[in-house]
Amino acid sequence: MQSPVRDTAMDEPIDLRDPYPMFARRRREGGVFRGSVMDWSKTPASMTPQNVYAAVSFEAVNRVFRDGKAFNSAIYDSTIGLFIGPTILAMEGKAHWAHRNLVSAAFKSRSLARWEPEIVRPVVNSLIDEFVDIGEADLVRDFTFEFPTRVISKLLGLPDEDLPWFRKRAVALISYAVDYQRAFEASAELKDYFLALIDQRRSAPTEDIIGDLVSAEIDGERLTDEAIFSFLRLLLPAGLETTYRSSGNLLYLLLTHRDQFDAVTADHDLIGSAIEEALRFETPLTTVQRFAREDTEIDGVPIEAGSVIDVCIGSANRDERRWERSEEFDIFRTRTPHISFAAGEHTCMGLHLARMETRVAVECLLTRLDDIRLTTDNDPHIHGQPFRSPTALPVTFRPTSAQPAE
Ligand code: HEM
Repeated sequence: MQSPVRDTAMDEPIDLRDPYPMFARRRREGGVFRGSVMDWSKTPASMTPQNVYAAVSFEAVNRVFRDGKAFNSAIYDSTIGLFIGPTILAMEGKAHWAHRNLVSAAFKSRSLARWEPEIVRPVVNSLIDEFVDIGEADLVRDFTFEFPTRVISKLLGLPDEDLPWFRKRAVALISYAVDYQRAFEASAELKDYFLALIDQRRSAPTEDIIGDLVSAEIDGERLTDEAIFSFLRLLLPAGLETTYRSSGNLLYLLLTHRDQFDAVTADHDLIGSAIEEALRFETPLTTVQRFAREDTEIDGVPIEAGSVIDVCIGSANRDERRWERSEEFDIFRTRTPHISFAAGEHTCMGLHLARMETRVAVECLLTRLDDIRLTTDNDPHIHGQPFRSPTALPVTFRPTSAQPAE
C-alpha cells in the first residue's frame, strides 16, 4: 500500500462564510481538479485518502451523479453509515433499486397531498402561534430549526409527548461530526425506540411512514427490521437537517434582498420560484462524496480507481456556463434546473416533501407576520461547508389579523 500523501490542494483554507469565490476560481481552471473543496486540516494525514479530486462544473457533477458504473456511494459506509446503519444512501445497482422501491412506498404522492393540510400546515401554524404576539423572534431558533423535526415526528406517527426526547436524539445524531460518542448513544437509543414502534405497527397497523414501511412488499420481498430502523435514522440527516438549513437560507436571502421579499409578499405564487432560486444559490449541502470504482476520467482528468471525489453541488449550481449572472440571487431569472437534490439513481427521495414543507412555511409566515425585518444583532449570515445555513435570523415584525387557515 502506498503511504498517504496529502495533496497541497487539500490544505487550502476554506472560507466558511463564503466558499463560493474559491469554487469559482476552481471552475475557471476546469471542471475537475486534483484536491478537495473540504477542510481536511483537522484530519490526521494517516487518515486522509491518498487520491482526492473535486468535480466543480455542472457537467462534471452531473456526470458523477449519473455514472453509477464508475462512481459509487460506498464511502457513506465509513462516515454517516456508522451512525445510521445500512441504507439506500450507500447501496448501488440492483440492491439499491429494490430497496429504494420498497422504502419509497412511504413517500407516495397520495400521502403528500394528505400531509399538507393534515400535518404540515397545523405544525407550522402552531409554531408561529408560539411567537406571533411577541413582535420579534429568531426564525432559526424559533422556526426553521424546529418545524422539520415536528413534521417528521408526526409523519412517523410518534406520540406528541415523545417530541422532546426525539428532538434531543435527532440533534445528537445529526451532530455526529461534533460529538461522535453522543451520536452513537443516540443512534442506539433511536434503534430501540423505533424497534418498539415497528413491533406495535405489526400488531396494530397505522397510516404513517413506519406503518407503510412495515407493510411494504414487492414480489414477496419485505424490509427487515434493521432496514426499517436504519432508514428511519437516515431521515434525520437527510430530511430534517437539509430542510431546516434550506428554509433558513431562503428566508435569509429574501430578507436581505428587500425588493424580492416585497414581490413574494405581494404575490405568493412567486414562492415556488424563490424556493428553487434559493436552492440553487445557497444549497444547504454544498458537497457530497463518491468513490471511483474503476480507473476513469472526468473532463479529461484521469481518476484512479479508489479515489475519493468531492461532488461540489454548490459550485455546479453557480456554473456560469449554465446560468447568466450565476453569482446573483434572482428569483425572476428564467428557470434552469439546479442540482441540489442530486441526479441519477440517488436523486433525493424527499424532494417533493421538502418543497412542500418550505412552501407552506413561507406562505404561513408571510400571511401571519407583517413587515418582517432582519436586524443586524450578532451579524447574522450564512455559514458553513459542506452544510450551510444562517447563524441566526433575528427579526422584528407585526402580527397580521390573519387567522391560521386550516
Ligand atoms: C431541501 C431539502 C433537501 C435537500 C437539498 C436534499 C438533498 C439530497 C441529496 C443531495 C441527496 C443525494 C445524496 C447522495 O447521493 O450523496 C439526497 C438523498 C436523499 N434524500 Fe434528500 N434532500 C432534502 C430533503 C429531503 C427530505 C425532506 C427527505 C425525506 C424526509 C429526504 C430524503 C432523502 C433520501 C432518503 C435520500 C437517499 C436517496 C438514495 O440514496 O437513493 N431528503 N437528498
